[in-house]
Amino acid sequence: MAGKRVVFLGPPGAGKGTQAKRVVERLGLLHLSTGDLLRDEVARKTALGERAKGYMDRGELVPDALIIDMIRGRFAQAKSGFLLDGFPRTVAQAEALEQITPLDAVVSIDLSREEVVRRLTSRRVCRVCGAIYNLTFNLTSGDTKCAACGGELYQRDDDRPAVIEKRYDVYEKSTAPLIAFYRKRGLLRSVNGELGSDRVFAEIMQILGA
Ligand code: AP5
Repeated sequence: MAGKRVVFLGPPGAGKGTQAKRVVERLGLLHLSTGDLLRDEVARKTALGERAKGYMDRGELVPDALIIDMIRGRFAQAKSGFLLDGFPRTVAQAEALEQITPLDAVVSIDLSREEVVRRLTSRRVCRVCGAIYNLTFNLTSGDTKCAACGGELYQRDDDRPAVIEKRYDVYEKSTAPLIAFYRKRGLLRSVNGELGSDRVFAEIMQILGA
């Protein structure tokens, strides 16, 4: 396969989705976001969506078997490389991924719990094109439409304070062990997610040699 094979790790709200959109556009990679795929299943009320919704609304992980089944077939479309955003999230998922494809880099975007809560309570997302905004820097509280496509902006169901805290707990318990997992394999690189979005993007580009 030509092109980079990249994983983004990081707590909820670290900026994975924001950076992924820019990186895939620059490098021509396939963006595979398990969160976006699941929200699409929920919106279409599929059997998977119906099963996943409760876990997502509570801030818990959807069971590994459902996630691995959902993502496995998608790599066939990734002839020019891919960027995985939100997968893997457990050691079992990472082990399954190793059976599917090798990787070139795992980029961990790090962010403190306090900043995660601040960013996610003020996040808004476009229901049509998925563009990501924040009330603290590129929206005002009166904005209801996406600047890119005019779609309706909404607040995700899991961006309520109690659920955000739960998601951070789940990240620390189930996903943070992947930092050691990928460090051991020589793939891990870290970026300080507290930096401004352009700085984070520049550091990721440097890591990816692009
Ligand atoms: P998912 O959709 O993957 O959510 P997440 O990992 O919690 O990540 P987020 O999308 O909340 O944040 P992000 O890091 O993309 O940040 P963003 O760029 O938006 O998963 C949702 C749920 O699905 C899970 O809880 C689980 O139930 C399920 N699920 C998904 N994958 C799964 C898996 N593999 N296994 C099991 N279950 C799974 O940025 C956040 C905000 O900050 C935005 O407002 C943005 O504008 C702002 N911002 C971004 N960068 C900066 C910056 N540098 N400075 C200031 N503000 C910034």
